[in-house]
Amino acid sequence: MTRKLSIKQSQSIESFLVEDRVFEPCITRSKVGSINSMVEYKALCHEALQNPDEFWSRLARENIVWTKHFTHVLDESNAPFYRWFYDGELNVSANCLDKHIGTVTEKKIAIIFEADDGNVTEITYYDLFIRVCKFANALKAEGIKKNDCVIIYMPIGIESIVAMQACVRIGAIHSVVFAGFSSKALEERIIDTDAVAIITANVQLRGGRELPLKLIVDEAINNGQCKTITLVLVYERTRKHWKRVIGRDKSFLEVLEGVNSACVPISVNAEHPLFILYTSGSTGKPKGVQHASAGYLLWVILTMNWVFDLCLNDIFWCTADIGWITGHSYVTYGPLAVGATQLIFEGIPTFPHAGRFWEMIERHKVSIFYTAPTAIRSLIKEAETKEEVHPKNWNLSTLRILGTVGEPINPEAWIWYYRYIGRESCPIVDTFWQTETGGHIITPLPGITPLVPGSCTLPLPGIDALIVDEFGNELQNGIGGMLVIRRPWPAMIRTIWKDSETFKKCYFPEKLGNNFYLLGDSAVRSSDRGYFRITGRIDDVLNVSGHRLGTMEIESVLVSKTDLVVEAAVVSRPDDIRGETICAFVVLKGSLPTLEEGKVIADELRDWVSKGISPIAKPSICFCENLPKTRSGKIMRRLLRSLAKRESLMQDITTLENPMIFNALVHFF
Ligand code: WT7
Repeated sequence: MTRKLSIKQSQSIESFLVEDRVFEPCITRSKVGSINSMVEYKALCHEALQNPDEFWSRLARENIVWTKHFTHVLDESNAPFYRWFYDGELNVSANCLDKHIGTVTEKKIAIIFEADDGNVTEITYYDLFIRVCKFANALKAEGIKKNDCVIIYMPIGIESIVAMQACVRIGAIHSVVFAGFSSKALEERIIDTDAVAIITANVQLRGGRELPLKLIVDEAINNGQCKTITLVLVYERTRKHWKRVIGRDKSFLEVLEGVNSACVPISVNAEHPLFILYTSGSTGKPKGVQHASAGYLLWVILTMNWVFDLCLNDIFWCTADIGWITGHSYVTYGPLAVGATQLIFEGIPTFPHAGRFWEMIERHKVSIFYTAPTAIRSLIKEAETKEEVHPKNWNLSTLRILGTVGEPINPEAWIWYYRYIGRESCPIVDTFWQTETGGHIITPLPGITPLVPGSCTLPLPGIDALIVDEFGNELQNGIGGMLVIRRPWPAMIRTIWKDSETFKKCYFPEKLGNNFYLLGDSAVRSSDRGYFRITGRIDDVLNVSGHRLGTMEIESVLVSKTDLVVEAAVVSRPDDIRGETICAFVVLKGSLPTLEEGKVIADELRDWVSKGISPIAKPSICFCENLPKTRSGKIMRRLLRSLAKRESLMQDITTLENPMIFNALVHFF
């Protein structure tokens, strides 16, 4: 291991470029059906490239329980609208539950739920199966049928996983909306999906606080546009009273009373939409990413085995919320499909103290731990200032694999994670992927791939990733460019819900040619090993604490405050803990505000953004007389980014139409 590390500012691209430490594999793998060596990994990659049809066909036969076997593997006739295994039939919920019934797994604990207040509930595969069957029957009795869209607006818990699985069991399409999203964001998603029902909870418990979820659902529906909703199902998380709309609202207890526990899963086509999940892009409107049943299921099973090396006795903990893709793939579907025991957690890492994660790992003997770099960075800060929450206070010896997801991890955080959580004996899988890819695509294999901090290393078998210039020409190692995937793979996004044009334009832009799938990230491969390093987004997408937000989305909300705002431009500023924070440059109606006025207006606008999207999207605000524009009228975001970082304005501003506007001091509220 050589040492050469000089990182001053985490997250900066430069800091990644000087990293040259290598950590050799430190566990042995033993699982049958997984990848056990670099030789096996390379053989699989080779097979996938040479005989893709045979490769995917073999894996789909080995890993999925089909109700009707497929005879076709890939249909490219309508590229880029690819179809996989398209004459096969299956049910994804049956592949997560029924498959285990009658085997030893049925008595195994499927989910350990730790509530915000520390209360622990466990449920076996058999009991979970019964719960899902009952809930599916209740949904049917309420008139929900195949192809109906159901919004799930719930915090993480056994009930929300049951709700997702129950929808899938009857062929309904769920769209989970993160419970931190505002009523406005919820309303937009209800309208876009034409959902017929919403499943929610009276309240959500987080960090010792009760947040009223049902109230937000009412607000969203009452805005008047959600005409399709005929049913609101309410899980009573606490005894707290909730207001009922007669004829529309029902509690879980009411609909579950006396329902039958036998429910035959409906057999659906391999391409049947499994779910829609909204994510931010470079347009003002979030995109409804649509995934297909079989291909997605196959990939979450494969990645659970390949990347997490899931073994019989593992206790798996992915800290993501079900409102994000990570919670879909590695909480609701992946772990159940491979018969794992998993821990889920309702609360936040800092309540009642910032050692909660480490305490939970000890308490539940977690062996695989998967979280976001932003959580690690904030816990490092806590541990460094408060001795009593330092991970060394807990016994973490059950851990064998660590993972990160959602954003680049800076080498300092990686090393801390490796040293204090992994005790220098657990590999870290830095998993790179996105909502659209369904599961991991570029990641180390634990115990097999030599690790380099800050690098997601190599693509999984079947993922033909490369780096190209703006015309689609492949670039050499060491030269940064756009990350693309050359061949389709089963778990890829099928389309954007009700917007196939945007799907094509956004992911398969014509100027690249070749039908490359464009991820929207820039990356560079190392000269020595060909390892991938993600260097940032190429579009207007921000990553704040691992949450994906579009600058346009925030700008549209700001300018919709028409009584105050004339124009707004949003950029990001690098942040040590959160990766990025949001800065908005706002032109107000009338003259520039004084300091006191500015403070009040900024608070009002932040509140507006919080109500329009989510508290996650709240920006720091800088008021200006005008936005810097080129002579052709384009906002100079490059300049705004420098201002946001408070860099001295060394950049060339001679192309600015109005160069004087930044003579005044830049002040952020
Ligand atoms: C974007 C996707 C991955 C599921 C959760 C987020 C960034 C994600 C990494 C990583 C560097 C990463 C990319 C990607 N990203 N993982 N390991 N290293 N960047 O899913 O909300 O769809 O966001 O997150 O920019 O495109 P998402």
